[in-house]
Amino acid sequence: MSQFDPLPLDDSFYRVHPHLLPTTPLTASQDDKVALVREETGIQDPAALKQHIIAVQKRAYAVKSFLCIRYFRFAWEQISDLPAYKEVLKLGRERDGALLLDIGCCCGADIRKVARDGWPTEKLIAIDLFADFWDVGHELFCSTPETFPVAFLPGDVLDPTFLKPVVPLISATQLTDSSLPSLASLTSLTPLNGHLSVIHVSSVFHLLSEPDQIQLAHSLAGLLSPLPGSLILGYHIAQETAGLGPLDLNRTDVRRMFCHSPESWVALWEGIFGEGMVKVEVELKKFGIRDGVDPSWLIWSVQRI
Ligand SMILES: C[S@@+](CC[C@H](N)C(=O)[O-])C[C@H]1O[C@@H](n2cnc3c(N)ncnc32)[C@H](O)[C@@H]1O
Repeated sequence: MSQFDPLPLDDSFYRVHPHLLPTTPLTASQDDKVALVREETGIQDPAALKQHIIAVQKRAYAVKSFLCIRYFRFAWEQISDLPAYKEVLKLGRERDGALLLDIGCCCGADIRKVARDGWPTEKLIAIDLFADFWDVGHELFCSTPETFPVAFLPGDVLDPTFLKPVVPLISATQLTDSSLPSLASLTSLTPLNGHLSVIHVSSVFHLLSEPDQIQLAHSLAGLLSPLPGSLILGYHIAQETAGLGPLDLNRTDVRRMFCHSPESWVALWEGIFGEGMVKVEVELKKFGIRDGVDPSWLIWSVQRI
């Protein structure tokens, strides 16, 4: 097997309670990661549910062999484990017309969780490099574009014709485009600059080189609404000291991953928005050895003050 061949799938990684992001305290519903697929599909029998998820996993892995698929994270939503998730739901409840974007959504488990927890589906949008993941997501959750009508856009967040990086807005008065196109009619993310109340981006930054991470951070800041409370949140691989970390764990490249530290991550966002303009919260955690590697994960949020 060459270093670029996908690692073989292994059913023993299937867990009902994977504890990937053990925030404190876990609620009963957070602890049951198959709950979302069970509730959405109606498949109650644990063995049938496992069989269904394993069958879909094969199709997802054939699209692109990401480790999040190998470890079944593509099916377990993780967004509700993030400490800032309560702020996400609060914005959805309290801000009129609030929009939420999921960057690198894969099969869409996280955005389905947000929809299940009350965000109107017409105010949600997901994007990914691989359109096929969205179709596999419909298979996983036994839905169709009609029964789950969240807008999905295929695209590369690093492509300026898909997402043009702009300087973050300082005040709502700078928002000139009050008549946003409907999310379903968008062909790029650029018209949404300055309009997003929440941006979720998990397990994406560590796939990118250091300059690309900086570009993406600037682009996300440009997308964020200037209203106080607007939020970007996620998690990804990081380490105590910023610099090159483990080899790309997805085996797509021989490069070593560029890993931020908690300090460099805070400095990056404060540098983009200006000191005192955002509250940046970070936590570095270990979740256990996988494929011989024991990475640390940065769980973070950036919120407009
Ligand atoms: C490791 S998966 C994580 C999926 C999901 N966010 C999660 O937390 O489980 C990374 C996802 O980001 C997508 N992605 C990677 N680079 C991207 C880019 N430049 N533009 C858009 N999506 C990208 C991949 O296709 C993949 O679905």
